[in-house]
Amino acid sequence: SVHTVTTLPTERRPGCPFDPPAELVDARRHGPISRYTHPGGKPGWLITGYDLVRSVLADPRFSARKELLNVVGFELPPAPPGEFLLMDDPQHSRYRKPLVGRFTARRMRLLTERIEQITTDCLDAMERTGPPADLVTAFAKPIPTIVICELLGVPYEDRDSFQEQIDTFMSGETSDEDLLAAYTATQRYLAELVAAKRAHPTDDVLSELTDSDLTDEELKGIALILLAAGFDTTANMLALGTFALLRHPGQLDALRADPTLTDRAVEELLRYLSVAKSFMRTALVDVELGGRTIEAGTTVVLSYHTANHDPERFPDPHVLDLRRQDGGHLAFGHGVHLCLGQQLARVEMRVAFSALLRRFPTLRLAVPAEDVPLRPETADIYGVKSLPVTWDV
Ligand code: HEM
Repeated sequence: SVHTVTTLPTERRPGCPFDPPAELVDARRHGPISRYTHPGGKPGWLITGYDLVRSVLADPRFSARKELLNVVGFELPPAPPGEFLLMDDPQHSRYRKPLVGRFTARRMRLLTERIEQITTDCLDAMERTGPPADLVTAFAKPIPTIVICELLGVPYEDRDSFQEQIDTFMSGETSDEDLLAAYTATQRYLAELVAAKRAHPTDDVLSELTDSDLTDEELKGIALILLAAGFDTTANMLALGTFALLRHPGQLDALRADPTLTDRAVEELLRYLSVAKSFMRTALVDVELGGRTIEAGTTVVLSYHTANHDPERFPDPHVLDLRRQDGGHLAFGHGVHLCLGQQLARVEMRVAFSALLRRFPTLRLAVPAEDVPLRPETADIYGVKSLPVTWDV
């Protein structure tokens, strides 16, 4: 018989802010693939097994195109020009290709010193103001936001024009009306920005891209996904990651005692938290998968979070173990849409976590753990809304 999940859970188990919701863990227990009905009533599938998620991501018979998503009662429009996350090749690679060379591990390592400086500035400001602090506004948000702004050539002073808007897209708690308003405002801001870069190119990725055959409309779309993907994900990893470390004092002590553990700790936090929880793909033809037939035109939900907690792939998956050696998590996805910014995010996390722990050896929560406000499960990117912390002075 086929296990069925009627709706995606909207909450995690109380007291378990890091594990996938009970319904998803239960679905995986029944097998790697479950029947599922999309909110618009369309039949679909939910994939929670690591191997199966990975194989769908590597399979060209599955599409990421927005207009093929068969989840609501009506047809969705295609992704706007430049927003290549929801496109297939060759369109997708038209946008991704000119960016790849600008986001390599080597290029990102060259940014390390600048990222260290930005982190130091944030920590200095925290120290000056004194405890308590909200780690989200003082640390987790500004670091990746300043970094992506500098990389793209967006004046950080302009962040009010887009940061709040992008928060609105990502919060999972916004009315359609507010979403549209936020989207329109961001579009207007980015149109002005692209026009400014064309008129006066500066030393940044967006200016470099004006020297190609990409149109202003396309550049705007690229800028939007880089901004949106570039800070909300990393900001949530930094804040939720700190929360997770503070809830696992043994692991935290081990990391403090042995900074060479940092790279591995970052990978484990990525796996364990999987803040980019799930994405969708649509079958272009009938596909046999895990003994089921996914009919052409059917959309599958891929739970990266549950796949990263698959006990067949990661022993004791719900245990945060910074020394874990098994690697290969899907927190950045897999295949053609593998996160473009993964090396940047890694450098940011390595630098920021180690500097934070070094600067505040007595860092701790300033409220009971149950009172830390979490994003709802409906948010695209999971995380804490704020993280009140304190330390000894
Ligand atoms: C794609 C996660 C940071 C830019 C993705 C995907 C995931 C992901 C899971 C694949 C989506 C899919 O399968 O459809 C994360 C996480 C991050 C992070 C967890 C932080 C820890 C960043 C940063 C940037 C970025 C800093 C900025 C450059 C992108 C872009 C894509 C992407 C442009 C689309 C790639 C494509 O469609 O070809 N990210 N990301 N990400 N990410 Fe990230």
